[in-house]
Amino acid sequence: MQELFEAARAAQANAHAPYSGFAVGAGVRAASGRVYAGANVENAAFPQGVCAEASAIAAMVTAGEREIVEVLTVAGDGSAVVTCCGGCRQKLREFAGPETPVHAAGPDGVQRTFTLGELLPASFGGADLPTRRGRVSWG
Ligand code: THU
Repeated sequence: MQELFEAARAAQANAHAPYSGFAVGAGVRAASGRVYAGANVENAAFPQGVCAEASAIAAMVTAGEREIVEVLTVAGDGSAVVTCCGGCRQKLREFAGPETPVHAAGPDGVQRTFTLGELLPASFGGADLPTRRGRVSWG
């Protein structure tokens, strides 16, 4: 967990967030044990911005991995628990299961741990498609 936090913090420091001023870092641990980190990357054309979780997932997939076993996000000043946005919950769900822990951290460390199933109940996945090509079963 400390390794995930440190990777996410380091990524957060590199966030490109000149429009919101809200830097986010994310770390995902893949099945191999390796940690992949990402930061939010905003754009002058606002909708083109990318969340930190999406950056971390992209790094993991680019490295050839397809399974997330643990997630940590770091954002905010620690006065409130900041959880990942709805879109990122769905992006994580592509590669993680309902029991996958998702830690929400502030500058001093993890404040609260959820499961992905708690954050995204009754979710949609690849198994719901006629082709049933989803790779993670949620039962
Ligand atoms: N952001 C993330 O990177 N992850 C989230 O889960 C929530 C929001 C980013 C997007 C935008 O760059 C900034 O935080 C403010 O919304």
